[in-house]
Amino acid sequence: MKGVILAGGTGSRLHPLTRITNKHLLPIYDRPMINWGIEALVNAEITEIMLVTGGTHAGEFLRLLGNGHEFGIDRLSYGYQDRPGGIAEALGLAARFVDGEPVLVMLADNIVERSIKPMVDAFRAQPTGGRILLTPVEEDEHLRHLGVPTFDDRKRVVGIVEKPERPDSKFGVTGIYCYDSHVFDVIPTLVPSGRGELEITDVNNHYIGQGTMAYDVLEGFWGDAGESIDAYYAVNDFVRTHGANKG
Ligand code: DAU
Repeated sequence: MKGVILAGGTGSRLHPLTRITNKHLLPIYDRPMINWGIEALVNAEITEIMLVTGGTHAGEFLRLLGNGHEFGIDRLSYGYQDRPGGIAEALGLAARFVDGEPVLVMLADNIVERSIKPMVDAFRAQPTGGRILLTPVEEDEHLRHLGVPTFDDRKRVVGIVEKPERPDSKFGVTGIYCYDSHVFDVIPTLVPSGRGELEITDVNNHYIGQGTMAYDVLEGFWGDAGESIDAYYAVNDFVRTHGANKG
């Protein structure tokens, strides 16, 4: 299984901090944000990884991570996204790297308390279709910033709405996804959303429509450090006190 870690985008919700660097290079406790995502993948025994980024600070990732060996990565490739055209567009740049294998995709601003290995192992056991990781979220105001699933009465996910005005459940879709290699056939069929991006939620809804999307509910803390400056500090406080990616 290959890994793709996405670290592009504009980081506009963290301006002005992100005017002078890439969001995923900002510190979370004692290291740059990107290191936590790398650690999450390596702990799940994913050691062939492509990092996709963009913008004027892309070179800093090379300086930080090099060939990745120091972090337990066997093969680290880099992809460059010309403009922030969306999460699904960024993933599309990894098609040749993934080369027909199943793939774990992680948004580099997502931080988890507990290891993602159980989800990855579940997908390894049945590596077709897709698998998403949900997290319980109480506040509607928070859910309005996320992808939110709708369930049927048998607790199957029947659809996901991106940033819904009226959230249909108390779960958010985290930025941690498993797909079979068919994902690279789906991405070229997408049309840009209202915000001009190729949306990962459209990819997920494709798999849901095919009846091949599974899900897990994450245990422990989850945070999107790029959601707002308050979220960034909440994630920092959490990781400083409790750590992340624990087994
Ligand atoms: O964090 C979880 C949420 O992430 C999900 O609940 C949503 O369904 C999903 O759409 C996403 O929402 P965000 O609004 O938080 O996505 P954002 O634009 O912040 O991008 C998330 C990461 O993806 C970011 O850390 C960098 C990467 N990215 C994003 C864009 C738009 C890229 O690499 N390239 C891009 O063009």
